[in-house]
Amino acid sequence: MNVDSITESALADTARAGNERALDEVRVRYLGKRGELTALLKSLGAMPAEERPAAGARINVAKREVQAAVDGRRKVLAREQMQEALAAEAVDVTLPGRQRRRGGLHPVTHALRRIEDIFAAAGYAVVDGPEMEDEYHNFEALNIPAHHPARAMHDTLYLDNGLLLRTHTSPVQVRTMEAQGPPVKVICPGRVYRKDDVDATHSPMFHQVEGLVVDEGVSFADLKGTVIDFTRHFFEQPLGVRFRPSYFPFTEPSAEVDMECVHCRGEGCRVCGFTGWIEVLGCGMVHPNVLAMSGIDPERYTGFAFGFGADRLASLLFEVDDLRLFFDNELAFLEQFA
Ligand code: DAH
Repeated sequence: MNVDSITESALADTARAGNERALDEVRVRYLGKRGELTALLKSLGAMPAEERPAAGARINVAKREVQAAVDGRRKVLAREQMQEALAAEAVDVTLPGRQRRRGGLHPVTHALRRIEDIFAAAGYAVVDGPEMEDEYHNFEALNIPAHHPARAMHDTLYLDNGLLLRTHTSPVQVRTMEAQGPPVKVICPGRVYRKDDVDATHSPMFHQVEGLVVDEGVSFADLKGTVIDFTRHFFEQPLGVRFRPSYFPFTEPSAEVDMECVHCRGEGCRVCGFTGWIEVLGCGMVHPNVLAMSGIDPERYTGFAFGFGADRLASLLFEVDDLRLFFDNELAFLEQFA
């Protein structure tokens, strides 16, 4: 009987099995239904009866020994595999992380948000209007009929579809009054377009903020208080403000507002052209024609309106002396505001 030699080669094969599959083949070869040790057990019947118990016992001992060796080898292989995986998939937590650059808000967006916050805190609603506008809302309803000299000052960009790119945010005043009756208390921030050549102070697209308040008993004094309050909140300084008589077709009386130069505080410098003052805003009492055209009774209601350039306020706030920087999209510039 060759139990010993079979066991020996089974143990040797088990020790050599390099992976789970090879190990399983070894198990089947010796312990499976047609395995070599199993075959030995089956051959017992051919033995003389008195030899069978001892031979059977020896084969069973051999089977258990081989089974134990296979189980032990399986554990070793599993452990080795785990070690390999741990080594291969290890993450070095001491390596520096991959940097992602953070984006930030554009300086004009910063300025617009600041403006919206100030007016929202004073009870104003923020409203939008279309950038493609019709002649009626951009001009006529604002008391600027065809051939009015004010139209020539607007360098309008006309579109093929009969509309135009709004030259100011004032048409949103009209749309707001058409859509809702008094009381009205809104600001309308947005992009406006003019056929201008690009230089340090001009851009064919820029941002304006329009303001409109209509109610019973609204006066020029309310307008003055509003404008003065706004400049002081925006620049966080008690700047001097002066109102100069001016002309806009949609307001009567009209004024332009100058603010003490934020840079030199009135001393005179390059920023203010050595005058000590900076023009920041146009405003006035809404013209009765404008109220009437939008369906508001000018006998009963009065209103004030104002409009200013947000890019210009941003340039004063952040001390940027060339408007082109806002539109060139140079990261080195923009990252300073992120
Ligand atoms: N729409 C004027 C412009 O673009 C600015 C302006 C002036 C708006 C006076 C107003 C206003 O509401 O009352 O130049």
